Amino acid sequence: MSFRDDFHWGAATASYQIEGAWDAEGKGPNVWDRMCRWPGKVHDGHTGDVACDHVNRYREDVELMRQIGINSYRFSVSWSRVLPEGTGKVNEAGLAFYDRLIDALLEANVQPWLTLFHWDYPLALYNRGGWLNRESPDWFEAYTRLLVDRFSDRVTNWMTLNEPQCFIGMGHYTGQHAPGCKLPWSDVLLAAHHALMAHGRAVSTIREHARNTPTIGWAPVGVVRYPHNNDRQYIDHARSLMFDITEKTHWSNTWYSDPVILGHYPEDGLRLFAEDVPNFDPADLKVINQPLDFYGANIYTGAPANGTPEIDLHYKRPAGSPHTLIGWPLEPDCLYWGPYFLQERYKLPIVITENGMSGHDWVASDGRVYDYHRIDLASRYLTRLRDAASDGVDIRGYFHWSLMDNFEWAEGYSQRFGMIHVDYQTLKRTPKLSAHWYGRVIESNGNEL
Ligand code: NOJ
Repeated sequence: MSFRDDFHWGAATASYQIEGAWDAEGKGPNVWDRMCRWPGKVHDGHTGDVACDHVNRYREDVELMRQIGINSYRFSVSWSRVLPEGTGKVNEAGLAFYDRLIDALLEANVQPWLTLFHWDYPLALYNRGGWLNRESPDWFEAYTRLLVDRFSDRVTNWMTLNEPQCFIGMGHYTGQHAPGCKLPWSDVLLAAHHALMAHGRAVSTIREHARNTPTIGWAPVGVVRYPHNNDRQYIDHARSLMFDITEKTHWSNTWYSDPVILGHYPEDGLRLFAEDVPNFDPADLKVINQPLDFYGANIYTGAPANGTPEIDLHYKRPAGSPHTLIGWPLEPDCLYWGPYFLQERYKLPIVITENGMSGHDWVASDGRVYDYHRIDLASRYLTRLRDAASDGVDIRGYFHWSLMDNFEWAEGYSQRFGMIHVDYQTLKRTPKLSAHWYGRVIESNGNEL
C-alpha cells in the first residue's frame, strides 16, 4: 500500500517568514514588525524586513517549486499587507501581489493552499485589544471575506489559523512571540476563545461565498505521544497522554480542537482551568464548531509512552539521543501515531500541514548543500506516514516545512528549515540535496523513500 494517487505533495511557508517588503506599497505594520524592534526579543536583532525578499522574487521561487515537482504549496497572506489597519481601507497593491503569486503557481501546475493567519497580526488591531477584543472575530471574518471574494475563483484549499497553541500561548502567555504579552490564564483563555470564534466565522464565510467548492481545514500543532510498543496498555496510555489535560499548559490538542470539531471544551480542561474559563455565551460554541474537510496537523516530534504515568508526562530522553539543531528529538513514530490518534478522535481526513527540521546547512566549496540529515529525517518520517496510510488512516497530503530557509521567529535566521538554501546577504537560492531527493520521492508517489 502506498499514498493515494491524488496525494498532495507540498512544501509550506508563511508570509512574515519569507516575504520581506515589510513597509512597501502601503503595507501596514504587524505585531512581528514591532517585536523585532524590541532589543533582546529576537536572536541577534534579526527582523523580517527583507527576509527572503519573496515579494520581489516569487517568480524564481515558483520556478524552483516547479523544478522540484511539488504539486501543492502552502503559504499565508499577510493580513496587514491587504488591510493596513486590519479592517476598513483595502490595499490594492497587497492584493495584487497575491494575485500574481497565485497565477504564477497555477501556471506552474502547483495548487495554492492558502492559510489566512500565520501569526502576523495587524498592529492597528492589536492596539484595539487584539484577540482580547470581542470584536476580533468580526475583523477576521471581514478579512476572510476580502480574500474569498478576491481569490476563490482560483484558490480552493483554505486553512484558517496556524498553530493557535503557539500564537496564543507563546504570544500571550510566555511572551516569547509577538505580541509579547504575559497575561493571566483568564485573559489567555479569552484570547483563545476569540481566536476559535474567528476560525468558525472564517469557515462559514468561505463556505458561503467561495466561488468554487472549497476544501477547508486548519493547522494546529499536533502534540504527539506514541506507544513504546503496540501493546494495548501502551496505546491507551499514549492516547491519554496526548489528549488528557492534567496540568495547565497552552500545549494542548483538545482545548483547541475539541470545540472546533466536537463542539465543546474538554471536561478535564474546564475543571482544571475552573474560574479562569471565560464566561462565554453557549451560542459561541455553535459559531466555533463548523464542519471541516480536513484536519491539518503540524507535527515535528513526539514522545514515547512506556506506561509509567508520572515519568511519561515529562519524559526525559537518554543522553545523546538524536535531535535537530533547534533541539527537537528525532521521532519518526510521531508521523504514524499523531495522524492515527487524531483521526480516531476527530474523524477527519488528515493533511500534514508541516513537518521538517532545522540543520547546520551551508553551501559547500563545490556549490552544493549536503543536507543528508534532512533526507534521512524526512525519509524516516514519510515511511511512518505511509505505514499509517496503509493501516487505514486517511492521509491526504504532506507539506514539508519549509520550501526555503526563512525567519524562524524568535530564533531569527539561526535555524535553517528549508529544502532550498537562502543566502541572506545575496538572497541567492540554492536547492539542497533534499530538494532533489524530494523530487524523486514525489515522482514515485512516495514508493521510493
Ligand atoms: C511552526 C510554525 O508554524 C512555523 O511558522 C515555524 O517556522 C515552524 N513550525 C518551525 O518552527
